[in-house]
Amino acid sequence: MTALLEVNGLTKRFGGVTAVDNCSFTVAPGTITALIGPNGSGKTTVFNMITGYLKPDEGGISFDGQVIEKPSPAGLYREGLSRTFQQARIFPELSVQENLVVAAGYSWRGLFGARVSKADRVRAGEMLEEFRLSGLADLPAADLSYGQRKLLEFAAVLMSRPKLVLLDEPTAGVNPVMIDTMERHVRARHKEGVTFLIVEHDMQLVMRLCDPVIVLDRGATIAMGTPADVQINPLVLDAYLGD
Ligand SMILES: Nc1ncnc2c1ncn2[C@@H]1O[C@H](COP(=O)(O)OP(=O)(O)O)[C@@H](O)[C@H]1O
Ligand SMILES: [Mg+2]
Repeated sequence: MTALLEVNGLTKRFGGVTAVDNCSFTVAPGTITALIGPNGSGKTTVFNMITGYLKPDEGGISFDGQVIEKPSPAGLYREGLSRTFQQARIFPELSVQENLVVAAGYSWRGLFGARVSKADRVRAGEMLEEFRLSGLADLPAADLSYGQRKLLEFAAVLMSRPKLVLLDEPTAGVNPVMIDTMERHVRARHKEGVTFLIVEHDMQLVMRLCDPVIVLDRGATIAMGTPADVQINPLVLDAYLGD
């Protein structure tokens, strides 16, 4: 099957440090693919290059059968690729509901005009219901807990009905109940046909949720396979043991 996302030889250097080193992998449509690796192995930098937040020194990506010459966050969002950040990016001064409407592509000013379409208002309402944020809809997002912010960011990236969602450590620092909530939402969206690429440090969650698992070490792909295969791969064990 044709890959939904193809990462071809991405390389990024920061001064003398090669953070990502000729990294290649693919994400097949319909999968929940994990991208794991020790701290500092380049996972977030790979996400930043895929989504146009960082320009690669070498390499590139294809998405949905097209080479993306100059990835830009807004362009990819329109094409159906969206992401979350390790530190949730939301607009703290806007209400929870307004955050969703802004995510649908309206400017902040547009919120006060009549330009927000009925369809997007309805969609925002659905997202609020689904993520059980309706009771908080009118609160400033700044009032949300850390975990609720991550949930809001997740809901916001779904406003555009993306084909592929990249999640960067969706459960880092959130409580066990919120971890279950995140997992439930990923599974529900996956059932509806959304493909996921997830950076996650909770190995139990990775092992029960994701297949395949891609492993990065020092910026390069060192393994890709089923959770069971990857767990017993000597290269992976060495990477995690700091060899
Ligand atoms: N903007 C930056 N400037 C300099 N070094 C960076 C920058 N971003 C990341 N790095 C370095 O690149 C490496 C990979 O970082 P990162 O992609 O954040 O890893 P991970 O997400 O796997 O923990 C690390 O050594 C990190 O210190
Ligand atoms: Mg990271």
